[in-house]
Amino acid sequence: MWREDEVLAGVAHEVEALHRASANPCLREWFYEGHVEVVADYAAKIAAREGVGMRVPVLAGLLHDIARTVMVEDEPQLTEDSERMAREVMARHGVSGGDADHVCAIMAVHSCRGEKGPTTAEGRVMVTADAMAHLMTDFYFILPFKGWLFGGLSFEAYKQWVLEKTARDFGKKLKFEVERKEAAPRVEALRVLFGAAGV
Ligand SMILES: [Fe+2]
Repeated sequence: MWREDEVLAGVAHEVEALHRASANPCLREWFYEGHVEVVADYAAKIAAREGVGMRVPVLAGLLHDIARTVMVEDEPQLTEDSERMAREVMARHGVSGGDADHVCAIMAVHSCRGEKGPTTAEGRVMVTADAMAHLMTDFYFILPFKGWLFGGLSFEAYKQWVLEKTARDFGKKLKFEVERKEAAPRVEALRVLFGAAGV
């Protein structure tokens, strides 16, 4: 449904092209349809149900971590470069001012590390959508494939990363009861598979 919005479709087209042109095979071959579009789809669905405008959460979903396409992986550069690139893309599609600031504010806290987290309804929709895209797809299974994204990590270190990230996904990012209920069995399965008992 968000694809019928001209601005969102234009931004998505540009974001997809950036992924296809990436030097990173994971970003080029999987990340757009495997993660970015999934976040946008969940964001639109949750926004509609919660009575929140979909433009800001879908934009934040499409643009979060956009600097990964140009091989930036580590913080704080990932957040800084993603904001700069996101503002450039949005400006080309007529999104500026308060909406652009709001999208960037959500992007900056979307990982929910430490005390960080969304403070608006749009932000709560986006972080829930991001967590659902991690938990309800093959995200945690595909990333070690061919060494994608985590070529330098041992399996033990990868397991630790999964356990920490699923804990943030479930403990901090799922802001609505509908999604918490839907994701709970998946979280439990992931945590058993990757080495911790139960949720
Ligand atoms: Fe994400």
